Amino acid sequence: MSSISSANLQRVGTNRLVQLLGQWSTDGGPIYRALAGRLTELISEGSLRANELLPPERSLAEALTVSRGTIVRAYDTLAADGAVSRVQGSGTIVAGRSLNVGAGSDEFVGERLWMAEGAAVDLLKAMPTMLPQVADLVSAIDLSSHAVDLDGAEPLGWWRLRSSIADLHTRQGLPTTPHQILVTSGAQQAISLVVAAMARPGDVVLGEEDTWPGLIDSVQHVGARFEPVRLDADGLIIDDLESKIDRFRPGLMMFNPQHQNPTGSRLPPARVEAVAALARRHRIPTLEDRVSADLGFDRRHLPAIDEHDTGGYGLLAGSLCKVVWPGLRLGWLRADAQVINRLRSHKAMADMFTPALSQAVGLAVVERYDELLDQRLAQLRPAADLVVDTLRTDLSDWVFASPRGGMSVWAKLPEHASASAFVQHASRVGLLIASGRQFSAVDADCPRIRIPFTASPPVLAEGMRRLVDAWRTFDRRPLAANPF
Ligand SMILES: Cc1ncc(COP(=O)(O)O)c(C=O)c1O
Repeated sequence: MSSISSANLQRVGTNRLVQLLGQWSTDGGPIYRALAGRLTELISEGSLRANELLPPERSLAEALTVSRGTIVRAYDTLAADGAVSRVQGSGTIVAGRSLNVGAGSDEFVGERLWMAEGAAVDLLKAMPTMLPQVADLVSAIDLSSHAVDLDGAEPLGWWRLRSSIADLHTRQGLPTTPHQILVTSGAQQAISLVVAAMARPGDVVLGEEDTWPGLIDSVQHVGARFEPVRLDADGLIIDDLESKIDRFRPGLMMFNPQHQNPTGSRLPPARVEAVAALARRHRIPTLEDRVSADLGFDRRHLPAIDEHDTGGYGLLAGSLCKVVWPGLRLGWLRADAQVINRLRSHKAMADMFTPALSQAVGLAVVERYDELLDQRLAQLRPAADLVVDTLRTDLSDWVFASPRGGMSVWAKLPEHASASAFVQHASRVGLLIASGRQFSAVDADCPRIRIPFTASPPVLAEGMRRLVDAWRTFDRRPLAANPF
């Protein structure tokens, strides 16, 4: 048995391996053999590299909801083929030559959302399709009218676009000047820039206990600590927020309170005001992620935190990606003009400036924002109805609140059913869907499934059929009873 210094090893996180594995067990043979086969593929294509340490048997077994024996047999099969070495005290290590091309050991909460699609129906992502009107808008753009902007290189974004976005906020009840807008490549970049500029390693950042993983991961990525604030059916519990502020003295707070992802809840106006007051009183920069705030089926305006007095501590991330087209990658940060100027260099460092073509399309889109929003809502409403009807008819023991907007339904499985085990089972019958774990700042098996209603009607209908089928064939007995 060889000995190896663990200092030379790169650890492959369990989430990362589950994501790489994708769909691996659909051929009907023994699961360990299918798993070994898929791992061999990952090694030969270079997704798993020499000197990478595979996850411990127990944690991989839990994540894949198979028995530990299945993992042991799969690893032993690889060892017999010389693809890995099994080193006592160190673990299972990929054999062969190493091309040292990066860390590869980062573990991201949201990693599974980016799983390879293969032949499965993908209900993992809450990503709407491109609105058909975008094609017409793009072909009507006259680039010659943008000559000055096209040759410019301003990290903060085109002045005309910043002005249009500021006008949109002002029209919606949040007076804004163009100086307060930084154009970003999607809201995610706004989030990452704020975290990179404002959170230091060791700092505490407060956020919702179940939230968009891009918020959690951006915090953990810079070495700061994400502390969860408890939620009820309406969103943030203000008493808990207050006590977490007193206890942790956070350097930053980040919430997505309206049509919250993943819960779909809307934070009531009185609580929105309370969050603003806490930000002001404790002088804590507070980022409101509003990517879904306008997606209310009743078209009601849901006030932003910064519509109240935050003492200048309010920040807001907006985006056209949900309303119009995720592929546009056009978002923004709204903040105090001084903050925007400080972030200018951070933006330049990230990607110089947002691509000119996205800004040109973004300008055309913002000018027709209300009309395009109506189109998006006309798609989302019937899609939400389909999910709700299927749940009521065929999954009547699941508990959920009917969505009032947003992009997904957050459904609770009946007592004792493991959501992680269920999504693994669903992937084996050709449906990719996320469990609560992909949105949880606490690494716990929250008994929830997020069902997005953003896919095209035929894909969503097929996905719901597979969801019902997966539940019908799901073995709810504890893991030990599962054969391998
Ligand atoms: C709550 C939330 N914030 C931010 C993002 C990222 O938005 P964008 O596509 O504009 O980067 C998403 C994407 O799904 C989201 O759900």
